Amino acid sequence: MNIKELKDKAFKELANVKNSADLENFRNKYLSRNGEISSILRSLKDLPINKRKKIGPEANQLRGDLEEMFEDKKKKISRIAGSRLAGQTTRLDITAPGIKIPHGHLHPITLTLRKIEEIFQSMGFKIIEGFDIETEYYNFDALNIPKDHPARDTMDTFWLKTKPEKLVLRTHTSPMQVRFMEKNNPPFRIIVPGRCFRYEATDASHSHTFYQLEGLMVDRYISIANFKAVIEQFLKKLFGEDVKMKMRPSYYPFVEPGFDIEMKYPSGKWLEIMGAGMVHPNVFKAAGYVPDEWQGFAFGMGIDRIAMMKYKINDIRLLYSNDLKFLNQF
Ligand code: PHE
Repeated sequence: MNIKELKDKAFKELANVKNSADLENFRNKYLSRNGEISSILRSLKDLPINKRKKIGPEANQLRGDLEEMFEDKKKKISRIAGSRLAGQTTRLDITAPGIKIPHGHLHPITLTLRKIEEIFQSMGFKIIEGFDIETEYYNFDALNIPKDHPARDTMDTFWLKTKPEKLVLRTHTSPMQVRFMEKNNPPFRIIVPGRCFRYEATDASHSHTFYQLEGLMVDRYISIANFKAVIEQFLKKLFGEDVKMKMRPSYYPFVEPGFDIEMKYPSGKWLEIMGAGMVHPNVFKAAGYVPDEWQGFAFGMGIDRIAMMKYKINDIRLLYSNDLKFLNQF
């Protein structure tokens, strides 16, 4: 084979080299001590002088070229191998920061509720839960709100299409007052957090679905002073020592006397946060207690309102719209 043919063959083969195994074969075949070039150079001594002078330099030149091309190819192949590894996760950089697994967090209403529960628990209140669907009896009648009494109209109600018993989506958490007292004897202190529903138009401060927290404390001698102390302590723990509260007379059929509690905003504005009062004798009667023997206070606060004050949220609809841009702030 002459040098020219050998050169063409070697170039072609090198162009087809794809990986380091091919490359090694190539080196063995052409560039090693037993490779084709070495054997040509070894055989020079048997050639006549004129041929030797021609072929010798040509073979050396070819060896130089092939060695150079071989080195280039070797670099290329190791680059490809490197980048292939990098594309996979098999190349492990133990100094790189880990991949954070995103996880959720609690909703502002849940956060507020948990804080409120914690404060009342610290004052000896037990947490009780009720039902989203209530009977007409517990939602209204047992709470001294008779069928044709105008007080019913103050609570726009989702009535369920059931017969003969009329069921409602509870309009407040107060139904649990009677349910609990039917099964438990005083003294006790309970809170009842839960979702409530009213059939009303939605705006920045009203939602058809909202949260309330009922409170009820009953014993032989419970007065308005006890109520005020508990609520004042609660507000201080939730909003800080300088919180200001105000009680003003109000009407709820299931308490006598009844109040509304307002809290002062830093802006100076007063905001109503709960209804309250001393448990009405008719409510004790409905629960099977002898009214003269027991006294108690009850209150019902709006959790949404408190969450809105705590986190400075100006529209209740934000709490129910599942907008992550909003929720991620908490
Ligand atoms: N249930 C009343 C409401 O939803 C609030 C309340 C509870 C008032 C307990 C007095 C006593 O408006």
